[in-house]
Amino acid sequence: MTDATVRAKLLGLPGSLRSNSNSLAVLRGLQDALPAGVSMDIRDLRLPLYDQDIDTPDAPAEVQAFRQAIAEADGVVIVTPEYNYGMPGVLKNALDWASRPYGKSALIGKPVLVISNSPAFTGGVRAHQQVNDTLLAIPAKLIGGAQVVIGTVGEKIRDGKLADEAVLKFALGAIDKVVAAAGK
Ligand SMILES: Cc1cc2nc3c(=O)[nH]c(=O)nc-3n(C[C@H](O)[C@H](O)[C@H](O)COP(=O)(O)O)c2cc1C
Repeated sequence: MTDATVRAKLLGLPGSLRSNSNSLAVLRGLQDALPAGVSMDIRDLRLPLYDQDIDTPDAPAEVQAFRQAIAEADGVVIVTPEYNYGMPGVLKNALDWASRPYGKSALIGKPVLVISNSPAFTGGVRAHQQVNDTLLAIPAKLIGGAQVVIGTVGEKIRDGKLADEAVLKFALGAIDKVVAAAGK
């Protein structure tokens, strides 16, 4: 897709750093299945630990690049696993960085879709709730309606990508809402 044919540019954020991550595989599957005119860059959340002492105009370069990527995206798609009944620290850390500067966060008013997943049938729904709460604190424009919660995710991935047609269709319906919320 050339820049001229892109109607909406999304940013995909996996809440896991491991190379064989199911969350990353979900994003890769969605990336391949996006409708014409919609693109998605996937970005790793490997950032320094949030520290208000270094959250200055000279904040670490990775943080500035992360905030810039959010600012440039029309919408954000977060795919999170669940760690100990909650969201992974990596994701909370990234959202805390993204939430600042106070009142000027690139996430304020930004359409954000949250998808959770787990090898368990519960699909990471408790992490989903925590991510929603954090986004509401900022506040991002949280995409509501039926929650995209993917249980037994391992059975739905092939060759490192989400490949389950029913889940893809359901998640793509939610991505349509992101694009609409962005006015695209
Ligand atoms: C520290 C830790 C805690 C976990 N806690 C939960 C949990 O509370 N609920 C759950 O469904 N899975 C839990 N799991 C299993 C993860 O869902 C599983 O490892 C998953 O593959 C991680 O996501 P990823 O594939 O995107 O890296 C946990 C895994 C780890 C490493």
